[in-house]
Amino acid sequence: MRKKIVAGNWKMNKLSEEAVALTSELVNMANDEVQGDVKVILCPPAIYLTTLAKYIADAPNFALAAQNCSDKDSGAFTGEISAGMLQSIGVGYVLIGHSERRQYFGESNALLAAKVDAALSKGISPIFCCGESLDQRQNEDFIGFVKNQITESLFHLSAEQLLSVVIAYEPIWAIGTGLTASAEQAQEMHKALREHLASKYGSAVADDISILYGGSVTAASAAELFAAPDIDGGLVGGASLKSREFTNIIKAR
Ligand code: 13P
Repeated sequence: MRKKIVAGNWKMNKLSEEAVALTSELVNMANDEVQGDVKVILCPPAIYLTTLAKYIADAPNFALAAQNCSDKDSGAFTGEISAGMLQSIGVGYVLIGHSERRQYFGESNALLAAKVDAALSKGISPIFCCGESLDQRQNEDFIGFVKNQITESLFHLSAEQLLSVVIAYEPIWAIGTGLTASAEQAQEMHKALREHLASKYGSAVADDISILYGGSVTAASAAELFAAPDIDGGLVGGASLKSREFTNIIKAR
């Protein structure tokens, strides 16, 4: 059975004390209010991962993710962080291929395939992000475009490796815009992506992969999105920066 996951991508937000305050508020609220099985993954700036690990240590449903990692193991790559370094501080997940990394840092499907390999080689689960732009949605085979992102970055994996991957569908036109995809639009894509995974790995494997939706998710929109059969939770940006709002999204899973 695939997991229900609600992940919060903080992007480049929060100073140190704010990061600690948000994490402890979330752990306390979840402890008091969240029932049932849901994994909560916080993706803070990497500089806070070691500190925040202490604040989630007694919250078994919580985990940490980095927002990026290098495809290289080590060496002269100033400013980069390797998957081995993340493993060495106990981080279990890493976002790979967020649209902002693709757009502002020129990350290609081939580079992302190498980053996925780097993460998996250290036992870290990639949260692989994919999604189309508004122009692609309006003018192209946008489902084919997103399927191709998955083909080029994930289809070299074995079934066993793929089972460690979480997929996050984030239409670029819905990120930070307040324009959430409708539950029908998101479900259409999630179903197509699951079928795409099934075409390569079989339906038993595809049915075990969590596919998250991201793009302007709020407490108001989460319940309807998460109720769709192929939507297994969310990857939340802006609304994950507020403890009350994010807890309500977790509760909507
Ligand atoms: P918003 O929820 O702010 O639209 O961001 C989504 C996102 O990019 C999460 O990775």
